[in-house]
Amino acid sequence: MTMTNPEHPSADPYCVMGNPVAHSRSPWIHARFAELTGQPVHYERALVPLDGFAEFVRDFAARGGKGCNVTVPFKLQAAELSTSASERVRLAGAANTLAFSASGIHADNTDGLGIVADITRNAGVQITGRDVLLLGAGGAAAGALGSLIEQKPRRIAVVNRTHAKAVALVDQHAALATLHKVELIALDKQGLEADLTQNFDIVINATASSLAGAEVPAPASVLRSGSLAYDMMYGPAAQPFLDWASSYGAIARDGLGMLVEQAAESFALWRGVRPPSAQVLSELRALLQAEAAR
Ligand code: ATR
Repeated sequence: MTMTNPEHPSADPYCVMGNPVAHSRSPWIHARFAELTGQPVHYERALVPLDGFAEFVRDFAARGGKGCNVTVPFKLQAAELSTSASERVRLAGAANTLAFSASGIHADNTDGLGIVADITRNAGVQITGRDVLLLGAGGAAAGALGSLIEQKPRRIAVVNRTHAKAVALVDQHAALATLHKVELIALDKQGLEADLTQNFDIVINATASSLAGAEVPAPASVLRSGSLAYDMMYGPAAQPFLDWASSYGAIARDGLGMLVEQAAESFALWRGVRPPSAQVLSELRALLQAEAAR
């Protein structure tokens, strides 16, 4: 990884840290944000040794790095090593954004803001007052739940293969849900399959089931006519869920917009400038389609 851009030697260094990280689109997204806003940002990809995350972060900051995004498998460690953190990080127990300053390492989690922005602004679907089903209770679900609650839906049900994890995630967010008058419950998967009258306006897949080649972890009865079915992944990993949802009349949407919007939130946090995320999302979608057609 180089810390400077030869064309803009004074640009501030940022990066995405992960392992693996070669697939990450974040450098492309942030380069477009920088171009379109005129911000002097130099953003690279950093493959971090599995046992060397904290050392890598401190070294990057010491060499002038201003901030980083954090991806698999370091989001929990990122939250732990920060010297200050947002409420979102505390609730999720994980951070995807670090900002370095003289006062230390500040952690935030923009994944939830990203999915909310994509659903409400880009897809034009209101969350407030609606019924939401969240499939999964791992890191991806935890990162989104707090921001979903803050939109004040009527109800959020969390379903997970390992029910105890859904219960723990719901417990963790119970006070926030009460504050926003949201009915937040952990649903048992068997219960969901037995009661075919339970359906939702928005169904979000935050599981890794399609990566594992497994079936969609919910019965089709959870969908209403015109429900939004959202997979947090994009590309081939999201396809089984999107095909399932479309075949039952739902509006299927992948997580590419969430990716761009969480990046936009990180960029805004670092730079104090909001990039034109909708434009960058349509450019990225066109780029991925062109790559897939090759
Ligand atoms: P991530 O950070 O992507 O959320 P994770 O924390 O490992 O990754 O969580 C993966 C999620 O996908 C979990 O909710 C997991 O269910 P368990 O808690 O029971 O492990 C879910 N998941 C993974 N494989 C699955 C499968 N084949 N069927 C249903 N759910 C699955």
